[in-house]
Amino acid sequence: MDGESERAQKVLARLGVGSRRACEELIREGRVTINGAVATLGDRVSEGDQLAVDGVVFSTMPEIVVYLLNKPAGVVTTASDPQGRPTVMDLIPSEPRVFPVGRLDLDTEGLLLLTNDGALTNRLTHPSFGVDKEYIAHVKGNPSRGALRRLREGVELDDGITAPAQVSVVAPGVIRLIIHEGRNRQVRRMCEAVGHPVVRLVRSRIGPLVDRRLKPGEHRLLDSDELLSLQRAASSSR
Ligand code: URA
Repeated sequence: MDGESERAQKVLARLGVGSRRACEELIREGRVTINGAVATLGDRVSEGDQLAVDGVVFSTMPEIVVYLLNKPAGVVTTASDPQGRPTVMDLIPSEPRVFPVGRLDLDTEGLLLLTNDGALTNRLTHPSFGVDKEYIAHVKGNPSRGALRRLREGVELDDGITAPAQVSVVAPGVIRLIIHEGRNRQVRRMCEAVGHPVVRLVRSRIGPLVDRRLKPGEHRLLDSDELLSLQRAASSSR
């Protein structure tokens, strides 16, 4: 409802009670109440109002949803792109309206959260609460022990030195990095700074969340255990 009031019949129709015309009829028959008072045609309801038909209450609060999306390369992490490129919003249901939590670069693949829970978004993106994120970076060349140590200890970037990171080698030319800062293009800039530009970047974990079965372009809702562990991870400050 986006914080605005709407006619009761419109809200009831959207909630699946019946067609707009049928819902008007229910109001005329005096079977609809708003916050306990019998509604008349033309009455409006706002978010949080208690709307009932024959005493059965319907929630007008928007449902909180958290999606986990496996973002493919070539998709922009934005609510709308002026250049008309495909966006992450094209990959998830349009209702209820959700927003990406942070962003992945156009060419970065992997896990991205989208939610309409603003408080959770704030906690997940706030530097003092930010949860760990794991990336698999395919890089040019084979980083030496010295290069790996620099990545671990902190790399001087133009916006300052990076915080210590966990870095390990997965295969020749493939490294796993775990960072908790969320600076712009951070992993790409870190790898570039030690002489190994990234050729492919995949986010494989956000805090406690992993999903190896979710295919590129697919999304799913978090289950209640995942939500709880994410809330926990996002509320333990560093
Ligand atoms: N670091 C990057 O360089 N790019 C991303 O998309 C995410 C982290």
